Order: sequence, then structure tokens, then C-alpha cells
Amino acid sequence: MNSFFSKIKSLTRSTPSVELLWYMEYLRMAETLEDRRTALSMLDVALKEILRDDLELNRAWAAMKATYLQSNYFAHHTATIDLGCKIGNDTKIWHNTHVMKSAVIGDRCILGQNTFVAPNVVLGNGTKVQNNVSLYEGVRCEEDTFIGPSVVFTNVINPRSAIERKAEFMPTLVKKGASIGANSTIVCGHTIGAYAFVGAGSLVTSCIPDNAMVYGHPARLQYWVSDAGHRLAFDGDKAVCSATGDKYIKETDLSIKKIS
Ligand SMILES: CC(C)(COP(=O)(O)OP(=O)(O)OC[C@H]1O[C@@H](n2cnc3c(N)ncnc32)[C@H](O)[C@@H]1OP(=O)(O)O)[C@@H](O)C(=O)NCCC(=O)NCCS
Repeated sequence: MNSFFSKIKSLTRSTPSVELLWYMEYLRMAETLEDRRTALSMLDVALKEILRDDLELNRAWAAMKATYLQSNYFAHHTATIDLGCKIGNDTKIWHNTHVMKSAVIGDRCILGQNTFVAPNVVLGNGTKVQNNVSLYEGVRCEEDTFIGPSVVFTNVINPRSAIERKAEFMPTLVKKGASIGANSTIVCGHTIGAYAFVGAGSLVTSCIPDNAMVYGHPARLQYWVSDAGHRLAFDGDKAVCSATGDKYIKETDLSIKKIS
């Protein structure tokens, strides 16, 4: 938003009208789709003369409207939503969170306070990210994943301040339904399996199988959990979830599978 309006300010040469400044502030503070719609339609009128002959500005204005009107997401007025990101319906973005361009956030997600979402990060529908999480480029979370408070992701395996390593970002994939406990650190280049559970304060240094319960430094397989998050007690190679009745079979020492 800032770069667009700085340009507007420089174009108007003289001080922008109080009316224009007020509408810009209204848009910055708008939290709901209805508020954003109101602010944008007032700005449409206020900017008409300024935008008239400028193709580049008109394009930027259209992009801004597309970002703000794309869905009914809620963004607290202290959140920063960059142009060009995608945010789904019924998603809520809380205090001081920053969503950068090209990030894709699904429907019904919750991003807690002070969260950072880097460009190209993808969050599937229903993802919940607790407070103080940085989602760096290369992180992808599938639907219904839970990222606990102060979880730390990484994307460079051997960072050096003086050496640019942007071309060497390593991906992290958190598969459907997985949960990551508070204050865990995920070393990049690994996949956390579907419905896996990483206990609080763990250090993940390897890929985690589906439905695995892992914790510790480094995180190690402790036991298996159902999709609903309950410990599975295996009788031979079979187990039943005590909460849902879902049945699981142990395929190897390192993999189980839901069979019904
Ligand atoms: C892993 C977890 C689900 C509990 O698992 P559990 O099997 O019921 O654990 P228990 O409490 O029965 O503990 C079993 C043993 O594992 C240890 N343990 C449990 N969680 C651990 C963890 N995260 N890291 C290391 N050890 C852990 C316990 O100390 C205990 O050890 P002991 O037998 O030597 O005393 C839970 O500890 C956890 O980490 N939950 C995540 C909470 C969270 O981050 N929530 C975020 C939203 S607020």
C-alpha cells in the first residue's frame, strides 16, 4: 500500500487533500471486507482525477483493489497485507502479522499475533498458526495443520551473513493434519508426515513419518497417533483409535497406514 500511495503523493505534488489522506487511513485501518469495500469506493472517487491518464498507476490501483477485495478475510488493523498475496475466505489475521506478496493462505486459516509469512509460502485451508511464528520462503503447510506458538522454521542449512544463499533455500513440507508443538525448531529440507505430532520444544532434523509422535533433541519416534491425535496401542500389527474407531495397520517399524 505504501509504495502506491507514496507515488500518489509525489504525483499530486502539492499536499494531498485531507479527504484523500483520511480515506487512505480508513483503508489502512479497515479490518473487514465491508470496511475495505467502503474505503476503496471512497478512494475510487477521490483518486479519479489523479489516476486518469496514468496506465501504471491504474494497474497498481487495480492490483490493490484485487488484494483487498479477494475474499472476506479479517485482518486486524495492525496487520500488514502486501499486494499480490492470496488470502482465502473466513481467514483471520491478528495483530502485527505481516503477509508478503505471493504468499497463498487458504480458507478458514488463523494467523496469530506477530506472525511473518514470506513470499511463496503456502498455507492450506484450515491451518492454524499460533503467535510469534516466522514462515520463511520454502515452507508449505497442507490443510488443517497446526503450528504451535514460537515454532521456528529455517530455510538455509548453512547460513553465513556475508554469503547470499537465496538460491539454496531448502523446502519444508508439513503434511495434512500434522501438529507442531510450541517452541519446536524445524531444520529445513524435511517433511513432517500427515497427522504426525511433534512434541513441544522438539528439534526436527529428519523426515517424520505419517501419524508419528516424535519429540526430543533430536526428535525421535516415540509412538504412533491416530488422525484424531490419540495414542495407538498396537496389538500385533493392528490398532484402533479409541476416539473414532478408525483402524490402523503397521506396515514396517517406520510406517503405519489407516485401513478404515
Ligand atoms: C508430547 C505430548 C503430546 C504428550 O505426550 P504424552 O505421551 O502424553 O507424554 P506424557 O506426559 O505421558 O510423558 C511421557 C514422557 O515423555 C516426556 N515428554 C512428554 N512430552 C515431551 C516433549 N515434548 N519433549 C520431551 N519429552 C517429553 C515426559 O517427560 C515423560 O517422560 P518420563 O516418562 O521420563 O517422565 C505433550 O507433551 C506435548 O508436547 N504437547 C504439545 C503441547 C503444545 O505445544 N501445544 C501447543 C498449543 S498451546
